[in-house]
Amino acid sequence: MKKPWSGRFTEKTSEIVEQYTESIFFDKRLWKYDIEGSIAHAKMLARQDIISTEDSQKIINGLMEIHEEIKAGTFKFEPELEDIHMNIETALIKKIGEVGGKLHTARSRNDQVALDFRLYIRHETKEIIKLLVTAEEVLADISEKNLTILMPGYTHMQRAQPILLSHHLMAYAQMFDRDRERFDDSLKRINILSLGSCALAGTSLPIDRQYVAELLGFDAVSENSIDSVSDRDFAIEFLCNSSILMMHISRIAEELVVWSSQEFSFIELPDAFTTGSSIMPQKKNPDVAELMRGKTGRIYGSLISLLTTMKGLPLSYNRDMQEDKEPVFYVVDTLKLTLKALNQMLINTSFNHKRMSTTADEGFSTATDIAEYLVKKGMPFRSAHEITGKIVRYCIDNNKNLYELSIIEYRKFSELLTEDIYNFIKPFESINYKKSYGGTAPESVRQQIENLKRKLRSYKIRENSPIL
Ligand code: ARG
Repeated sequence: MKKPWSGRFTEKTSEIVEQYTESIFFDKRLWKYDIEGSIAHAKMLARQDIISTEDSQKIINGLMEIHEEIKAGTFKFEPELEDIHMNIETALIKKIGEVGGKLHTARSRNDQVALDFRLYIRHETKEIIKLLVTAEEVLADISEKNLTILMPGYTHMQRAQPILLSHHLMAYAQMFDRDRERFDDSLKRINILSLGSCALAGTSLPIDRQYVAELLGFDAVSENSIDSVSDRDFAIEFLCNSSILMMHISRIAEELVVWSSQEFSFIELPDAFTTGSSIMPQKKNPDVAELMRGKTGRIYGSLISLLTTMKGLPLSYNRDMQEDKEPVFYVVDTLKLTLKALNQMLINTSFNHKRMSTTADEGFSTATDIAEYLVKKGMPFRSAHEITGKIVRYCIDNNKNLYELSIIEYRKFSELLTEDIYNFIKPFESINYKKSYGGTAPESVRQQIENLKRKLRSYKIRENSPIL
């Protein structure tokens, strides 16, 4: 098959080279964006009298036919034609004849691929944002329904203080909300038109980039043609945001794994989201959560891979940059599926209220409340800490719980301890007093849930009406 760039060459491309350089097996995924960009470009060429309106219309009709063929699965992608851009252009010329060759006027694959990739990442960023909003809503709903359920809060994986289950879950909702904001903010850097930069230097033809930007819903036109064809920071930023999000998902997945263990027994994962063992009939394994944790490795790897590809590339376009797509495609597929699985898994997980609440009561979890009690009575915190430590030691030695000590025993440690101490050392009381902003008291957590829900209600994803 004749290459669009064959003019200068006397020898046929080696088969090894064709195999080595082709990207069609993965970049065919960009077909829709490639066609959209080409339609906008053809419209602009006619509007600027660079080609005739008639030619432009023929090109657009041809592109629409190709669109239908690809959609229907009847289009034949040719590896010899390297990539999606040359596959579509060649098919167009075959379909409408020589006039199809006018489409590539004032354009190069360098600005074209940057355009396609931006359109693709713009679309997928919004898809991920939508799934993230659902994740936040799911967490907020579960938190609302379980507002009075206690659990032990941990630091260093040791029981620290009683908290509300909803407070713990809302911590993840806050993380996801920042992830959503990060993706949303990145849109303004993604949504910039690179087309019209041509190979690297712009063109002598009278193009109108602003018009193309309007047609494709871009916020702005890139300022520097060299920069536009040679940077992939928008893709790196996408991978970076995805890595941070996946790190958060991996942490909640880890909690689900630990909480569903017999040792914890805090939750029961839905049967539909667990798997059995081929040898041990009693087992119910949290494989989905484990894979979420596990897949995080390749997501980070994708970020590192593109950062490394880009590092040290001289300006402007270099073929190395063709390696930008596969990591992004992998991340998009994995992240979307992971978020869908996470949302479903969370909705269908049941929480073992009794077990969580009982555990919240164990392990001297309200010791800090005794120290704060003494502080409220005027004792410096350091001394209060010391005395409470001694009380805990005494409990351990005498095999007692904090509220099993008599007031006489308490008063041996400090005269400031009076009968009302028992109102502070039960887990639920302990929680009720933590009314500080962002704290674990039910009213604070309710406020937090409301604030997030309000924020989500007023949030709108910026829509760009696509050409197709
Ligand atoms: N397939 C190429 C890529 O993904 C398209 C750009 C090719 N440009 C070139 N000058 N060979 O980067």
